[in-house]
Amino acid sequence: MINKGIILAGGMGTRMSPLTKAVNKQLLPIYDKPLIYYPLSILMLAKIKNILIIVNKGQLNQFKKLIPNGKNLGINISYAEQSKPRGLPDAFIVGEKFIEKSNVALILGDNFFYGQNLTTKLQSCSKLSKGAKVLLHTVSKPELYGVAKVNSRNKILKIKEKPKKFISNYAITGLYFFDNKVIKFSKQLKPSARKEIEIVDLLNKYKKNNNLYADFIGRGGAWLDTGSIDDFYKTASFVAAIENRQGLKIACLEEIAYLNKWITKKHIHNAIKFYGNCDYSKYLKKIASK
Ligand code: TTP
Repeated sequence: MINKGIILAGGMGTRMSPLTKAVNKQLLPIYDKPLIYYPLSILMLAKIKNILIIVNKGQLNQFKKLIPNGKNLGINISYAEQSKPRGLPDAFIVGEKFIEKSNVALILGDNFFYGQNLTTKLQSCSKLSKGAKVLLHTVSKPELYGVAKVNSRNKILKIKEKPKKFISNYAITGLYFFDNKVIKFSKQLKPSARKEIEIVDLLNKYKKNNNLYADFIGRGGAWLDTGSIDDFYKTASFVAAIENRQGLKIACLEEIAYLNKWITKKHIHNAIKFYGNCDYSKYLKKIASK
């Protein structure tokens, strides 16, 4: 059972400049809450209670103002700084002390997931004991993503970053589950032409050992981009449409913690004090009054 997770929340956010010049992308709003709430909610739905958030050097205080330590969510949150964006597998090098001998999940700080049965799927993925597992999702433009070709038994046959020639329309999403070998494998990686160590190279090491598995977010689920300004606002509109229609919030961290029985109503009242008079607090009041 995986009970440790890393959120990679650094990065340059170049595509979103100038918005990201002074503020980290993960702290910008997807509708009514900061982007970081969404990947954090996914780890919490996977029942992962020990979480390391990796941030850019110099940005720790911004994050700590928002999420000090996780106590009020009934979880353990710690932070580490990445001196520069050396690539996604750097998460396992920066996070080595946090991971220790455990297996670990990684979610990219700018990834958005939503959909029916997602929680069940996440909890089944976090049962991984050996190898690595990636979540795949159909996309219309596979040439923009890391892509996987799978056989009929969901075994990954081939993975390729931004394939020029079509191999499959299954994109590899930004949520991964790894056994403890991930630390050793990440340290062996050599930087690519763009001077980053690459997740595709890491996954290929697992593939070589016949230890790379795939699971799918079906067409009833959504995996949305928040990398460009346009995609960022499309994701925000998606959240606004669903939340306003249902009267239920996506990625309300206190609600998830409360439903997981990790916190009590007292914690929700503390959160209301922390947030002050806003719509998010009004929603929390409704939860505490049930
Ligand atoms: P990217 O999309 O590769 O980078 P970015 O978000 O900085 O954006 P841009 O390409 O516009 O410069 O990263 C995906 C996520 O992972 C994002 O949330 C930033 C984070 N990240 C790190 O924290 N450290 C890293 O070394 C890398 C490569 C990414």
